[in-house]
Amino acid sequence: MTAHRRLSAFLIAAFLTVPLSVSAQSPATDLRPVLVQGAMQLEIEKLAGRLADVKVERVGGWTFWSGTLDGYPVVVSKTLKGVANAAAATVLAVERHRPIAIINQGTAGGHDPSLRLYDIVLGTSSVSLGAFKSRYRPAGAGSNPLDWKVLDLMASEGSAGNDPNEHNVARFPGDVGLMAAALSVKQAYKRGRVVEGVIGSSDIWHEELDLIARFRAEFGTSAEDMETASAAQIAKLSKVPFLGVRVVSDNITNGDPYDRKTGEACQDYVYQVVKAYIATLKR
Ligand code: 5AD
Repeated sequence: MTAHRRLSAFLIAAFLTVPLSVSAQSPATDLRPVLVQGAMQLEIEKLAGRLADVKVERVGGWTFWSGTLDGYPVVVSKTLKGVANAAAATVLAVERHRPIAIINQGTAGGHDPSLRLYDIVLGTSSVSLGAFKSRYRPAGAGSNPLDWKVLDLMASEGSAGNDPNEHNVARFPGDVGLMAAALSVKQAYKRGRVVEGVIGSSDIWHEELDLIARFRAEFGTSAEDMETASAAQIAKLSKVPFLGVRVVSDNITNGDPYDRKTGEACQDYVYQVVKAYIATLKR
């Protein structure tokens, strides 16, 4: 080999090995984090407090805690309440952190009378409870959401409500891998049952039993909240695996009154879910 060729071979070898050795020294930084969302302080502070090497980032009204769990990067996000806040927080997180998966978790109201406080619903899918077209009623005829038509805002480019394809609810399925991780730690949760079910979301807290019965009959909802379906919609458009995990904090269908402490129990469970999911990821 000539001196020139030896130098070229050395430079190529150096070029190939340097990036590898750099990433081997800092494994956590190259990995896409698991994102865990919650709307309120009582739904995220316990999880954020369990991360190692935490860095806090504030963007507008939203807060993100970036750290590690079992050596893997995790971002905890306080989305604030409601569908617009949750959607915006999800976009911000996808853009800034490129999450490998998203878990939206927190409290919810039961739609299924057999669900008691502290029971947890794993979202097989989520749906909007806020996308409808009302039927015409003349002035003075009142309002009846029971006869409103379902509207799928994702279905077409046409004007909302005039396309027959738009009258099915948009459904956002939970990710199979995240669901498997959640089911794998089900036995560790001692505060209540862990069940699979449909989560409905809107900016409305429903207490009309006939309307809740309609949602159950048409969409199969087990519980309602104000964030899951909107975060799931953004996750779907962004092609990021997603799962909703909701603890029953109140249930108007059986009279169970609101208990804010349920939010802590949900975080304890989700902590185990994240650990189980991280264990399945390649490092
Ligand atoms: N209906 C709607 N949202 C509920 N939440 C808890 N219970 C309910 C309910 N019955 C959650 C929402 C929101 C906050 C009001 O608590 O997700 O963040």
